[in-house]
Amino acid sequence: MRIKEVRHIKVIRLPNGNYTFSLTANRLKFNMKNMEITEKLQNYVNVIRQKTDFVPQIALVLGSGLGNYADGIRIEATVSYEDLPDFPHSTVQGHAGRFVFGYVGEVPVVIMQGRVHYYEGYDIRDVVMPIRLMGCLGAKVLFLTNAAGGIMDGMQAGDLMVIKDQIACLVPSPLAGPNLDELGPRFPDMSAIYTPALRDAIHEAANEEQIAVKEGVYIQTAGPQYETPAEIRAFKAIGADAVGMSTGCEAIAARHMGMQVCGISCISNLAAGISDKPLSHKEVQEAADKVAADFSRLVTRSIEKIAGLTE
Ligand code: HPA
Repeated sequence: MRIKEVRHIKVIRLPNGNYTFSLTANRLKFNMKNMEITEKLQNYVNVIRQKTDFVPQIALVLGSGLGNYADGIRIEATVSYEDLPDFPHSTVQGHAGRFVFGYVGEVPVVIMQGRVHYYEGYDIRDVVMPIRLMGCLGAKVLFLTNAAGGIMDGMQAGDLMVIKDQIACLVPSPLAGPNLDELGPRFPDMSAIYTPALRDAIHEAANEEQIAVKEGVYIQTAGPQYETPAEIRAFKAIGADAVGMSTGCEAIAARHMGMQVCGISCISNLAAGISDKPLSHKEVQEAADKVAADFSRLVTRSIEKIAGLTE
């Protein structure tokens, strides 16, 4: 589009000292942040398309406990986050992360190996950039996995929980700012953010694999600190069954652009105050690693079922 008839330019100083601006032209309001997001997405698609024309059906995000899952699939191509200019990369595990394109059974998938978190200091819109990118590459389904602290009565470390709904209003919305109309509506409906048919498919897969699963509501905190016992009591009172520091914003961004979403939490520990043990990242990681084999089997069987529903 050619910009003409510029009517109004507003220069804004950002908290980090940089400047941005919005302008009104062609009777439309342009905002640099938004133009940046769509331009960046287009650029990332172009970079990836120069390396592979693979079109994924399902996008899978690997949380703790599933970190090695991609090693077991038939890999067709990989793209390191480092190959994508200014792409957010994880500062947690000491490696930048990559997209793995390949097949789980016969199902074409893209796997995000290494996710970014809000607590790493990224703008929430950058945190969901990889999710949006996988949607732009053709994925119809977003399959989220994570490690979480258990809040629900009777939960134990090592349990797997199918996510049925979420509370994510404790972190900023990834949809804040002018709407990206190319992706989805201003006020997207979130009443079935986790697609019921996909949840059913995960339960069926769990039955067939004889893996016990629970189902519950995931609450996202900003982190990085673990919660206080008082916070966990409050979360329980408002309906949360498991707590973590990812996933919620990713589900929102995917649903906004019309993807179907499902997710499984690996309960790596009981949340603060539910057990008296202090929480440590190492223990969370170790507990998640212990259920990795069951978790992997469940994800594989679920992907095969979900693919049949979403062709
Ligand atoms: N709280 C927040 N995030 C987590 C936890 C927890 O207890 N366990 C794993 N991720």
